[in-house]
Amino acid sequence: MRNLNIGFIGGGNMAEAIVAGLLSGGHAATHVRVTDISSERLAMLEEKYAIVSCAEISTVATASDVLVLAVKPQQIDAVLTELADVSFDCTVISIAAGVNLARIVDCLGADAALVRVMPNTPCLVGEGMSVLFSEAGDLHRQRSEYVLAASGKTAWVDDEQLMHAVTAVSGSGPAYFFLLAELMQTVGQSMGLGAELSKTLVNQTVLGAAKMLVDSGKSAEELRQQVTSPGGTTQAALETMFDGHLPDVVRNALTAAAKRSRELGSSLMPEVV
Ligand SMILES: NC(=O)c1ccc[n+]([C@@H]2O[C@H](COP(=O)([O-])OP(=O)(O)OC[C@H]3O[C@@H](n4cnc5c(N)ncnc54)[C@H](OP(=O)(O)O)[C@@H]3O)[C@@H](O)[C@H]2O)c1
Repeated sequence: MRNLNIGFIGGGNMAEAIVAGLLSGGHAATHVRVTDISSERLAMLEEKYAIVSCAEISTVATASDVLVLAVKPQQIDAVLTELADVSFDCTVISIAAGVNLARIVDCLGADAALVRVMPNTPCLVGEGMSVLFSEAGDLHRQRSEYVLAASGKTAWVDDEQLMHAVTAVSGSGPAYFFLLAELMQTVGQSMGLGAELSKTLVNQTVLGAAKMLVDSGKSAEELRQQVTSPGGTTQAALETMFDGHLPDVVRNALTAAAKRSRELGSSLMPEVV
C-alpha cells in the first residue's frame, strides 16, 4: 500500500487533513497529486507537503491508484461530468456529504470502484473518525482504509442509508462539543474566571474527559456516575441539565442533522434518494 499513487480533486480543508495524515510518519505515500481550482491553494499545499500539484483533473485521475473526490457536494457534478470523459482505472473515494454512490455510478458507470466516506474535522489533528461504505471488492476497500486510517479511526457500515446517522453523530459531532465548550467558557467567565483561564479549564477538561472515555474501558454512563456524588455539585449541574430536557435536545438535534443529510442528498440527486 505504501507505494500507492493517491490523487485528490479539491485541495480544501478535508483533503489537506487526509494528505497531512498520509505524509506523516508511518504512512508515507510515495506520490500524492492534488488539483484545485485555486492555484494559490495548490502552491500552498505543494510547499507545505511536497505534493505534486496538477492543473487538470484528467492528469490526476489517470495517474492515480486511488482518487479522492474532495470538493463540496454542490461542486461534485462539475467534477463528475469532467471525469466521465476521462479513461481511468482506480479506486474512487467520495467524501462529499450527502452524495449517494448511485449518483456517481450515473456519471462514471457501473464498473467504477466506488467508496463513500464520511470523515470529520479532527482528521486535521490525526484523530478523525471516518466511516466508509462500499460495494467494491477487497482491494478497493483496503486501499480506502489505508488512506483514511492515516488521519484517525475508521469504521465500515454495510448500508449506505446509515451514512445519514453517521453524519449526524460523527460528521457534525465535533461542532456539538465545540458549542458545549464555548458555552462553558462563557459561563466560566461570567462567574469571574479570566478568559484565558476559563478557556484552559474547559479545553483541558474536554481533553481529559475524552481520554477517559477512550482509554478507561468504561462507558460514558459509568464515568458520569463515578464523578457524581449524591447531593454534590456535579449532581446539581446534571439535574439541571435533565430538568432542561438535555436528552430530548440532543435527540432532536441529531435527528435534525440526519434529516438535513437526507434533504441535501435528495436535492442533489432527486432520482435516487
Ligand atoms: N469539513 C468537514 O467537516 C467535512 C466533514 C465530512 C465531509 N466533508 C466533505 O468533504 C468535502 C470537502 O469539504 P472541505 O471542507 O474540504 O471543502 P473545501 O475546503 O471547500 O474544499 C474543496 C476544494 O475544492 C475546490 N474545488 C471546487 N471545485 C473544484 C473543481 N472542479 N476542481 C478542483 N477543485 C475544485 C474548492 O475551491 P473553491 O474554494 O474555490 O470552490 C476548494 O478548494 C465536502 O464534500 C464535504 O461535504 C467535510
